[in-house]
This record gives sequence, structure tokens and C-alpha cells, in this order.
Amino acid sequence: MKIQLSIIMEKNYSGNDIDLIADIKKSQAPSKEKYHVESYGTPILTMDYGDIHGYYQILKTALNTSREVLLAELKDSGVRGRGGAGFSMAFKLDSCRQAQGDTKFIVCNADEGDPGAYSDRYILEQRPHALLMGMIIAGYIAGAQHGVVYIRGEYPEAVDIIQQAVNDLETFGYTGENIFGSGFNYRFKVIKAQGAYICGEETALLSSIEGQRPEVRVRPPYPTQQGLFNKPTVVNNVETLANLPYIMSQSGKKFASIGTEKSTGTKLVSLDGHFNRPGIYEVDMGTPLSVVVNELGKGFRSKVKAMHIGGPLGGLVPIDKIPTLSVDFDSFAKEGFLLGHASIVCLTEDFPIIEYLRHLFKFTAHESCGKCFPCRLGSTRGAEMLDKAINEGYQIDSELFNDLINTMEIGSLCALGGGLPLPVKNALHYFDAELKQYFSA
Ligand SMILES: Cc1cc2nc3c(=O)[nH]c(=O)nc-3n(C[C@H](O)[C@H](O)[C@H](O)COP(=O)(O)O)c2cc1C
Ligand code: SF4
Repeated sequence: MKIQLSIIMEKNYSGNDIDLIADIKKSQAPSKEKYHVESYGTPILTMDYGDIHGYYQILKTALNTSREVLLAELKDSGVRGRGGAGFSMAFKLDSCRQAQGDTKFIVCNADEGDPGAYSDRYILEQRPHALLMGMIIAGYIAGAQHGVVYIRGEYPEAVDIIQQAVNDLETFGYTGENIFGSGFNYRFKVIKAQGAYICGEETALLSSIEGQRPEVRVRPPYPTQQGLFNKPTVVNNVETLANLPYIMSQSGKKFASIGTEKSTGTKLVSLDGHFNRPGIYEVDMGTPLSVVVNELGKGFRSKVKAMHIGGPLGGLVPIDKIPTLSVDFDSFAKEGFLLGHASIVCLTEDFPIIEYLRHLFKFTAHESCGKCFPCRLGSTRGAEMLDKAINEGYQIDSELFNDLINTMEIGSLCALGGGLPLPVKNALHYFDAELKQYFSA
């Protein structure tokens, strides 16, 4: 598996560039890595928004409409969070709107730590104004006058592009005081994150912005009640927020007519280098996974036995399940997987599943914030057991191992420790024939 990236002179190099990294370092050549972008269905996020002044007329109209009407549009749209959990966006904005206090925040989670995911990066770099306008509209609805964009440190170009886009908005008067004469004020702050996976967890992210250790916070209180600097805060993913200009210009009902009943709109899917045509694909929710794999990705370039979909905490999907799945929250949940952020990382036939499990436990142990025992200790103990099984012929006690993953699932404070058991259970279920030699009955 090649999921690597390298930052040289504030430029991100990944994909095939990694093989050329020594030459790139010497010559400081720009990245040659390009990825394909295509819409299959309705182009919402991949739509070219053309002239920026024309595009921002959507904001002008929105700011001259009452908050209640915009919130109703958002409710009609049914849009759910694209960062992993699929939570209702309208519910969060409404909850923040109703919270007491004059200082409120909209925080954009642009930490995109899931290995294999680059759809947020695409929006940040190629569609920055869809995101920024989405944040201003979200702020108007929630009564928040501050927008914070927290961008993954490994995306230096995205930080520059977003900062430049914010500067342009200031120049045009589309952000700042009394935007379009509406009386609404909104200011942005762009933050370059520090490169830890846990910083993408929304409460750890807030601590990180505050300059504290990125430790997960106990909920309640939820961020919409007590978030950044203890003020009401909405944290939304890049892709979630970037849908708002479309919803406000085309109507919530139009958005809801795309996709399925409970998963409305479109989803960006990131395909890795094991596909014949890797890239970012925008598909209507409900699009069969087989279409994504075979028609858009043009099939696999090597022999693949499973796909890890939705990041390290997503499900491990064996390829014979492809025909049963469609790209939407419910289809994945029903089959025991997770759509998550919809990144697809392939596991080739020659890659041992036991090593993949060890990698997942090690990743969790490395990224754990350490606040709760099940994750802090469980991830390390799990990695040790798998390591011994691989290197020393140790037979893992199945009961002990199951206890370990059940304790992590039930007892962890956040979805890092709590989410790891999903792909592990998928692996134990679907790859039993390969794994059983490492476990005692
Ligand atoms: C360990 C961990 C890492 C996460 N990383 C991200 C991330 O990089 N980007 C993101 O949007 N959400 C991430 N999330 C989910 C966020 O906590 C949160 O649910 C999300 O930002 C809410 O936005 P949404 O409702 O628009 O999806 C992560 C969650 C966990 C537990
Ligand atoms: S599950 Fe892990 S990352 Fe989450 S709070 Fe517990 S120790 Fe921290």
C-alpha cells in the first residue's frame, strides 16, 4: 500500500511523486501528481462557480432573508454531516442559534486526517469560495460572527489558497462589517493545524485552536452549548459547509430530491492509487458502489481483496460485498460498515490481513489522546498481541481479544478507540480463513 505524503518547502508531494522524492528534493520541482475529478449525477461540489461576484449574489440574497427561512431551507434539505458521523447540520445550527450569548463560532473542520481521503483538500484548493460562503451563511443562521478554518498542516497549499480567498473577500467587502448592507458582521481566522489525527475529533480540535493539548472533551456540554473558548460553536466538515450555497440558491427541497430519503445530496468519494483511474468523484447519494469501482475508478489495477472505506475507523469491505452496497449512510450501516468520509483505500490480495490489523491498532495507539483507558491501554495491548502473533507464533486467545475490542467499543470516550473495533470485527468475520491460524478457539 502506498499512502504517503511528504512536505518539502511548503509543498505537498504524494502519490507517484513519492518515488521521485530524492530528485524532487534536489530540483525543488513542482508536484507532477494530478488526480482526476468527475461528477456522476448532479454537480454540486464539483460545479464551476464562475465569476466570484456573480457567485456571491447567493450570499447577498441569503443575508436579506430571515434566519428562520434559511433554517427552514436547511431542514428541508436534510443535509447530514460529511465528516463521519452523518449528524443533521440544521439541528446543530439551530442548537447554536438558541444558545445564550453574543459570541459564537462556526469552526470548519478541515483537518482531513483519514488516510486516503483528499476530498476536503479538493474543495479547499479548487472550490474555496463554496466553503467560505457556506461558513458565512452558517454563521448568519446560527448568530455566529466568527469563522475559524482549521486546516490540516500537511496541506500547506490549501492554507495559502484559503487565506488568499479570505483576503479577496475582505477586499470586496463580502466579509467584515455590515456585509451587503445587511447589518451582519463576520470575520475569518485561518489556522494551520499541527498534524495529529486526533485533532480532527471536534472537541480535541477546539482545544488545539485554544492552544491546549488536543485532548477529547467529555460531552455534554456539546460544542453548540460550550465550544471554542466555552462559547456556543458549530463544528462542521468542509464538504458539509460547501453544500450551503447550493441549498440556499436552489432550495432545500431540490437538494433533498437528490440522493436517497435519508441521505440527501451528493458525496465526494476519494479513490486511491489501486484503481485504474484514481481521483475524486462526486456521486449522488445512493449510487451503487459497483458504479464507483467499475465505471468511475475503471476497476482495480492490481488484485484487491478488500477496501477500507471511510478512514481507519470505517469498515473493511471485502470485494464480494461491492454489489450489495450503495454510497449512502444507511446502505453502509445496514451491512455493518460505515460510509464515513467515503475515502477508499484498497488492500491487495498479497497483503496479510493480520498485518493490517496490527497497523490499525498501532495507528490508534500512536494517535490516541490518552484520556480514557479503553483506548489508551487497549490499542497498545491489541498491537502487542498481534505483533507477538506475527513474530513469535503466539496464539491470541479469542475470548480475550473479543473482550478487548468490546471494551474499546463500549467504553471509549470518542470514536477513535470506539471506532477501531468496526474494521477489526469486519476482518474477523470476512477473513476468518486467513486469520484463524493466529487465534486459539
Ligand atoms: C479520531 C477522529 C478524527 C476525526 N477527524 C475528522 C476530520 O479530519 N475531519 C472531519 O470533518 N471530521 C473528523 N472527525 C469527526 C468530527 O469529530 C466531527 O464529527 C465532524 O467534524 C462534524 O462535522 P460534520 O457534522 O459536518 O460531519 C473525526 C472524529 C474522530 C473521532
Ligand atoms: S477514545 Fe482514545 S482518543 Fe478518544 S478520548 Fe479516549 S483516549 Fe482519547
